[in-house]
Amino acid sequence: MAHRIVFLGPPGAGKGTQAARIAKELGVPHLSTGDILRAAVAAKTPLGLRAEGYMAAGALVPDELVLEILHERLEQPDARGGYLLDGFPRNHAQAEELGKFSHVDRVISFEIAPEVVVRRLSERLTCPKCHAVYNLSTNPPKVPGRCDHDGTELVQRPDDRAEAVTTRLKVYAEQTAPLLEYYRKRHLLRTVDAHGSPDEVAARVRRALE
Ligand code: AP5
Repeated sequence: MAHRIVFLGPPGAGKGTQAARIAKELGVPHLSTGDILRAAVAAKTPLGLRAEGYMAAGALVPDELVLEILHERLEQPDARGGYLLDGFPRNHAQAEELGKFSHVDRVISFEIAPEVVVRRLSERLTCPKCHAVYNLSTNPPKVPGRCDHDGTELVQRPDDRAEAVTTRLKVYAEQTAPLLEYYRKRHLLRTVDAHGSPDEVAARVRRALE
């Protein structure tokens, strides 16, 4: 089973939902650059203050900021035995940089229709404290508006507004989708149909990691 894993896919494809469960099953850390950046924004760190505007607009945060946090995170002891990267790399320069400091075993591409992701994102709620992800129709919290794990008030991400979603889909098509060919050429890519229930998608991801 692969242990150095990259999840690629458009916004709302279900990468974060699957990464949380698959990383737990494999005993590797789930490294989400989006979650790390959102925590920095919430804490108003210098990194967060620089990243906030790009994120709210749906644009990519400049490579030098993201590479710095990724280097730091991959050097932590828990990432030595493997990791599941969710949201990195996002462009050719980031993929090249990752290749310089780590070997990658497998890249999973989540394939999904744009109209499905638009619906999923419009119904998403997230926990600002533990990053748990909910969906008003497919995965609602037990108590409306509260996180099941810690009771924190759930929020809608600023980049889930319709105009930011449009930008994010465009950015994915232009900057991230070319990485599918990049990893296919290196014989690392497996594609997974991301429609269907989270359990169905998880079963496909497990098969793709074997
Ligand atoms: P990031 O946080 O990485 O967002 P993203 O890639 O756009 O992906 P999402 O988190 O929106 O969606 P997801 O695929 O994880 O779906 P989820 O599981 O939540 O990045 C955000 C921003 O940070 C970027 O725009 C950029 O500004 C910046 N950034 C991050 N990394 C960067 C980098 N490397 N370089 C530069 N900038 C960077 O699911 C979505 C919804 O669907 C949820 O409600 C969920 O409950 C539901 N759902 C999930 N699976 C299913 C299913 N099978 N059936 C029904 N509903 C489902």
